[in-house]
Amino acid sequence: MDILAIAGSLRQGSYNRQLAEAAGAALGRLRPEAGFQLLAWDDVPLMNQDTEHPAPAAVARVRDEVKRADGLWLFSPEYNHAIPGPLKNLIDWLSRPVSEAEGQVLAGKPVALAGASIGMSGAAHAQEQLVGVLSFLDARIMNQPRLAIPHIAIQAADGVLALDTSAPYLERQAQAFVRFIEREGR
Ligand code: FNR
Repeated sequence: MDILAIAGSLRQGSYNRQLAEAAGAALGRLRPEAGFQLLAWDDVPLMNQDTEHPAPAAVARVRDEVKRADGLWLFSPEYNHAIPGPLKNLIDWLSRPVSEAEGQVLAGKPVALAGASIGMSGAAHAQEQLVGVLSFLDARIMNQPRLAIPHIAIQAADGVLALDTSAPYLERQAQAFVRFIEREGR
């Protein structure tokens, strides 16, 4: 089983990226044989239909990585109670068909949603919007459990995440997502 993690923040010290890394460690304890990769996508350009064909190299690469993954695990903050613009841009690229025969890479893909924010919402608003967009794209969203961690800075010191109260919830999501992929994955 190969899981591809996507951090919705491009920030170097992103809490969400650190959360994704902690998720990879949790998955490793649970299923040592499972593959876990964190998608590098900071070179994906802005969506512009003038440059869509042929796909820019970075777009072709991320599409391929998403296509090969058995499941996508998203870790995203929210920006102004919404999906961060860069992440929405990435999803917009992924939503475009590779070819008429192949379709787009998110269709049928198992997806788990996690996120953290500084504020009290824990990025739940962005998750709600992700559910809408990803449902439209026919992804298979794991509705339970989702993970939305508020006040994330409390679980960090000097910007370094040291998950404490949220760690068991991350483990639970890892377990559930493995089962979800085994049940729902194609
Ligand atoms: C934020 N932040 C934020 N936090 C929140 O709880 N609700 C919100 O609506 C917003 N809005 C928002 C907009 C923009 C443009 C930025 C840059 C930030 C704060 C956010 O939670 C904080 O910066 C997190 O640390 C971002 O996640 P990463 O980069 O640490 O993963």
